[in-house]
Amino acid sequence: MPKTVFMAKRYHARVKNSPPIPVAVIGVGRMGRHHARVYSELDEARLAAVVDDDAARAQASASEYGCETCTSVDELLERFPDLRAASIATPTVHHRSAAEALLERGVACLIEKPLAPSSVDARAIADLARARGVTVQVGHTERFNPVVRATAELGVRPLFIETQRVGPMSFRSIDVGVVFDLMIHDLDIVLMLARAPLVDVSAVGVSVLGTHEDVANARLVFEGGCVANLTASRLARKPERKLRAFADDAYVSIDYAAKAGVLLSAADHAEALASLRTRLAAGEDLSSLDYGSIVKPREIPIDEEEPLRAELAHFLAAVESGERPAVDAEAGHAAVEAAERVVASLRQHEIEGRAVEARGSWG
Ligand SMILES: NC(=O)c1ccc[n+]([C@@H]2O[C@H](COP(=O)([O-])OP(=O)(O)OC[C@H]3O[C@@H](n4cnc5c(N)ncnc54)[C@H](O)[C@@H]3O)[C@@H](O)[C@H]2O)c1
Repeated sequence: MPKTVFMAKRYHARVKNSPPIPVAVIGVGRMGRHHARVYSELDEARLAAVVDDDAARAQASASEYGCETCTSVDELLERFPDLRAASIATPTVHHRSAAEALLERGVACLIEKPLAPSSVDARAIADLARARGVTVQVGHTERFNPVVRATAELGVRPLFIETQRVGPMSFRSIDVGVVFDLMIHDLDIVLMLARAPLVDVSAVGVSVLGTHEDVANARLVFEGGCVANLTASRLARKPERKLRAFADDAYVSIDYAAKAGVLLSAADHAEALASLRTRLAAGEDLSSLDYGSIVKPREIPIDEEEPLRAELAHFLAAVESGERPAVDAEAGHAAVEAAERVVASLRQHEIEGRAVEARGSWG
């Protein structure tokens, strides 16, 4: 296989000669402590403080990454009036209250995904950010997976997208269903690739361990005809995170976990495909041909930058330059709104299923 490569541009241009940006992390649990670690490693940031309801947790991160602790956002804003940016990695239900306090004081926010538990809250955050002219980026980290960045740069306009995001139950984030927990990553990527309004959503789901869905499948139809089929499960035995897409002129396959992807482009095979078409039209029997040896996918190359590091560096560059970040509050809102439509559809499907069961027949 030829190793024709095309590198993803770095999303962030290092801002030269600027002093480090004073930052904080709100919520240093499973995700937030990684934000604290990455900020402590980045030259562009000066980690001033971490905030957590759990004082022992805050102290552990502060000791490890060399910063102060606060027990509330109010205390943070009072003690660090020069704060310019913060990551919000509290449980999703608390994103809006923390974001409002910070945005009102002009502090840029990197808000973990999903942006909010509802599109109403997500809209409120996006509107406030716009009104105050303050940067908001949403933590859809998968966008910073190098293979996704490279794919986005190809500019492929897919007609069909299929995603699989399945894994074993982690017993975390069980306050939300698998759509807001896992499928939201793919909803964000699919919305980015489809680049068209969502016109129809049809979904099914199954709740096994609680009241929220643990397995879901959704079919999304976009204006212009692109169709996406998304599957998410937190009850699978083995993890798998994949995306496949085809367009008129290309096929892309991504394995997120392996950070690997391939592109099959019609342009790369124009001559071979033209010859095949001619021979088929002439009625030639090609059943002995090995199609796999004719089409040669290009590997989508990766750089080894940690996606969270790329995400936070991109955020800091946006704070410094005032430019719109790649995953802004509008993108975060769009993903939440799409997730709500998926959940509404799968609930409706459940209700209709129960009604049919109660009638005792599908007739
Ligand atoms: N980008 C990703 O891939 C990814 C992965 C996992 C989680 N997340 C998101 O990150 C966020 C946090 O998830 P997690 O798994 O780290 O949760 P977690 O429960 O492990 O950590 C949350 C932390 O926030 C603290 N906290 C709660 N309320 C607070 C408040 N009002 N003020 C300050 N601190 C508060 C808790 O004490 C805890 O330490 C969620 O929005 C989740 O959806 C994103």
